[in-house]
Order: sequence, then structure tokens, then C-alpha cells
Amino acid sequence: MQQRKFQRLQNIIDGHEGNVSHLIAILQEVQEEYRYLPEEVLTYIATAMGIPPATVYGVATFYAQFSMIPKGKYVIKVCDGTACHVRGSEPINFALRKELKLTGGEQTTKDLQFTVETVSCLGACGLAPVVVVNENEVHGQMTPAGVLEVLKKFQVQEEN
Ligand code: FES
Repeated sequence: MQQRKFQRLQNIIDGHEGNVSHLIAILQEVQEEYRYLPEEVLTYIATAMGIPPATVYGVATFYAQFSMIPKGKYVIKVCDGTACHVRGSEPINFALRKELKLTGGEQTTKDLQFTVETVSCLGACGLAPVVVVNENEVHGQMTPAGVLEVLKKFQVQEEN
């Protein structure tokens, strides 16, 4: 990993004055930077903060919000809670995965552009089926064709 990246990491830790009680906040900021928590980054954090690596790993693996495997630039969450499932979340998920050529348990495309996850109820059942992109873009009453259009928009955006 390049020096510049560790520098950014150090700045985040310094921003919290190395305060161990800020570990979750630090990991959140670090994950924003790298999109996931690489192993060497967790080791660096532990060393820099003077805490056991097991503590840092423990927190990183305990909370669902943290990922230790790389995620795509666009994280597409397909809700598969009861309401969404009944209204057709499965064909949406299938269309998306087929278009992105994700096979088996794969969630992320090889070019690290897209991650497709299924999640349980997002709390917007009135809009079922619901798809959320990068936590902030909510698409309700989705269809397989609709989700491919959403995907296309990002693909075109990346090409330009
Ligand atoms: S089941 Fe999908 S938002 Fe509730």
C-alpha cells in the first residue's frame, strides 16, 4: 500500500486524537476512504492506536456495516423483506446479477464497480419492492426492467 494511503489513515486517527472510544467512528471514516477494511489497514490502526489487533478485528467483524472484502463503487441493495419479496424482489435480484455476470455467491463485479446485496426490510414497505443505491438513492416499486435502467445510468456515467 502506498505511503499516501497510510497518511490519510493516520490523519483520520489523528482527527480523533487516537481516542480508543472513537474506534467505530474511525473505522467508519476509514471504510468510506477505502470502501472496505483491508486487513493491513486494520493492523495499521491497531498499531497506531496501541491496541490489540484482535480488538480492532473484533469490532470490524461484529458490525454488519463493516466489510472486510472489497465492495464496488455502487452498492445496490435489493430488499428481500416480506413485502418486497411478495411483490417480486427475486426477479429484480436475478436480472441485476445476470446483467452484471455475478455467479454463485459473488456480490461484487471484478472491476469493483458494482456490488449487489440482498437485505431484509428497509422500512419502506409501502414502496415495495425497494432498491437502494449507496444508502441514499431509493427506488420504489421497482421492476426487473426498471433496475436495469438504473444500472445503465451508472454504467453510462462511468463511461463518460
Ligand atoms: S420489506 Fe422491503 S422495505 Fe420492507
